[in-house]
Amino acid sequence: MHDFVVTHGIPTPLPSILKGMSEPASDLPHILDKTSPTRVLAISSGKGGVGKSTIAVNLAIALSRLPLRVGILDADIYGSSLMNLIDLDGHTVSSEQDGITPPTAFGIKCIAMSMFVEDTQPVVWRGPMLHGVLQQFLTDVDWGQLDILVIDMPPGTGDILLSLAELIPRTEVLLVTTPKPDSQAVASRAAAASQKLKLVLRGVIENMSYFTGQDGVKYLLFGEGGGDQLAKTYSMPLLAKIPLLDPAISNNLGKTPLMATSTVCESTDIYNSLAKIIQGQRQPKIYRHELKIK
Ligand SMILES: Nc1ncnc2c1ncn2[C@@H]1O[C@H](COP(=O)(O)OP(=O)(O)OP(=O)(O)O)[C@@H](O)[C@H]1O
Ligand SMILES: [Mg+2]
Repeated sequence: MHDFVVTHGIPTPLPSILKGMSEPASDLPHILDKTSPTRVLAISSGKGGVGKSTIAVNLAIALSRLPLRVGILDADIYGSSLMNLIDLDGHTVSSEQDGITPPTAFGIKCIAMSMFVEDTQPVVWRGPMLHGVLQQFLTDVDWGQLDILVIDMPPGTGDILLSLAELIPRTEVLLVTTPKPDSQAVASRAAAASQKLKLVLRGVIENMSYFTGQDGVKYLLFGEGGGDQLAKTYSMPLLAKIPLLDPAISNNLGKTPLMATSTVCESTDIYNSLAKIIQGQRQPKIYRHELKIK
């Protein structure tokens, strides 16, 4: 057995990622198995910087408090955020012959593609390599028995979405947009791609919807209507409108996600409500044979 200490994203020595750790990590229900009870929630958007990672991490923590058994997989190899949002420095990624034990933070099992890539190296991976690593994370990481695996998706509609659709056809997609019409238009490409891949569109989360001033007035700094429009176009519910976080709170967070602090505010209430809505949804039973990546 080898232990890898995470030092800002660089486990040393590098585990044999991309090499054949072919046996499942445990004989517990396997996430890739079509009968697996684990729900897989992809937090997606066609657009970058709309808050996917922030929402993935905070929602994961809110879900774990319900309590549910939650894991988070950061699938953004090019611009990983998980390592910036959660302080995993010093946590251990254990790799045995037949699997990887992920570090746990705030009760959540965490794996990021960036844990296995040198910080200083530019990442140039072809789609099949991304597919291979995603597959390995789903099979070789010892997730144990999870109720929900949250996947922080890279921006866009590329390889990872396609891989996910092939590997886990029951994946549920939550689309993040801002209220701006142009953001909504780009986010809608991810909705269209998800729909084409026959993934389940669970709903829209509108982020940065408004800012509540000290006077209690809600200021619509980025316009309005983006979330509603996206939800309407794809016949899915608008599940939450998350406000801009007060800088008095965000400036003190550092690498601790909002939901891991004792702060109680409008945003924490909204994350808790969103988690309950998601808990109340049923896992879709979908299995398709036609999607195969060569
Ligand atoms: N509701 C919010 N209030 C204030 N700041 C926010 C809010 N949501 C996200 N942010 C900030 O916006 C920035 C982008 O957020 P984040 O990294 O979560 O977006 P992303 O969609 O994952 O980006 P990328 O496409 O690059 O992965 C971060 O600095 C984050 O702290
Ligand atoms: Mg991100």
